[in-house]
Amino acid sequence: MRRAIFPGSFDPLTNGHLDVIKRSLPLFDEIIIAVLNNPEKNPMFSVEERVEMIGQIIPSLDHSECKLSVRSFSGLTAEFAKQCNAKAIIRGIRAVADYEYELRMALMNRRLEPEIETVFLMADEEFSYVSSTLMKQVFLLGGRVDGLIPELVETRMRQKLGQIS
Ligand code: PNS
Repeated sequence: MRRAIFPGSFDPLTNGHLDVIKRSLPLFDEIIIAVLNNPEKNPMFSVEERVEMIGQIIPSLDHSECKLSVRSFSGLTAEFAKQCNAKAIIRGIRAVADYEYELRMALMNRRLEPEIETVFLMADEEFSYVSSTLMKQVFLLGGRVDGLIPELVETRMRQKLGQIS
């Protein structure tokens, strides 16, 4: 059983994340999208909201060959991967700027759990500039983000904006 986790903040999930998920589906038998519960950050969406949104989006992906689920976790990614009995940690790399941070994380995670490999996947270049932070910033300032985040996420962001403005 080739099981992997795809950890991240996912605040919110972007089409770049979805692209990485789609690319990883043929490589594994099971993927757990692992949403970090990090109380120090000031997220737009609660961890429960993020998990619920991703859960709603999963059925729209063609994942008949790979079991796909979403869970939240706290603490160390490497520890969570071990608890899940995962063989790999999936991370997306957009541009060279991501590399240094990702390399440090991958090496630290390998030190913590030597049996678990980090697998880097390159998102399509059309998403090379897409990040959750940029999406929130542009959206909150009234810019268009359609095509860069799932429609459900855009709807939920609109609802949030209604709540806070
Ligand atoms: O989507 P992000 O914010 O780039 O994801 C970063 C994440 C959640 C993968 C990273 O912050 C993480 O693994 N946090 C959990 C704590 C941990 O394991 N830290 C040590 C990593 S070497």
